[in-house]
Amino acid sequence: MLDILTYPDERLRQRAEPVVEVTDAIRHLVDEMAATMYGAPGIGLAANQVGVLKRIAVIDVDYPDGEPNLLVLINPEITDRQGQITWEEGCLSFPDVREDVSRADKVTVNALDRNGKPFELIAEGLLAVAIQHELDHLDGVLLIDQVSFLKRQMIHRQLVKNKRAG
Ligand code: NI
Repeated sequence: MLDILTYPDERLRQRAEPVVEVTDAIRHLVDEMAATMYGAPGIGLAANQVGVLKRIAVIDVDYPDGEPNLLVLINPEITDRQGQITWEEGCLSFPDVREDVSRADKVTVNALDRNGKPFELIAEGLLAVAIQHELDHLDGVLLIDQVSFLKRQMIHRQLVKNKRAG
């Protein structure tokens, strides 16, 4: 299991760089990220959250209620967004925070899989939400950026306090 960085760790604000080649080392990182996500437990994890600035995310919106159904996104790009949905989102980097966020309800994403093979996926609902949330991480954009100014201040204060308390 990898350590998950929590807000306000500055590393979460950095932009991840594209993966040049999907090597065994990248696959190993993907596997470790998946194990960390399942162990947390969470439904998504971006490489930034474990301190690695590479454009990699793992998502599984079916677990733990169903069978594991891991989605690996390497160098993902959203090529189409449609509709709107509001979902109460959480984030492994924001312990105990849940906030309503509005995003596209349907997205088309292009990415490489664990073997470096390109694929296209059309996702709706929670999966679309999770994909957009994880892609934000890759650009250093966080859950806290998607809420009102007042809520942002509240969450910031709470998490800084928690961190000081250890
Ligand atoms: Ni997150």
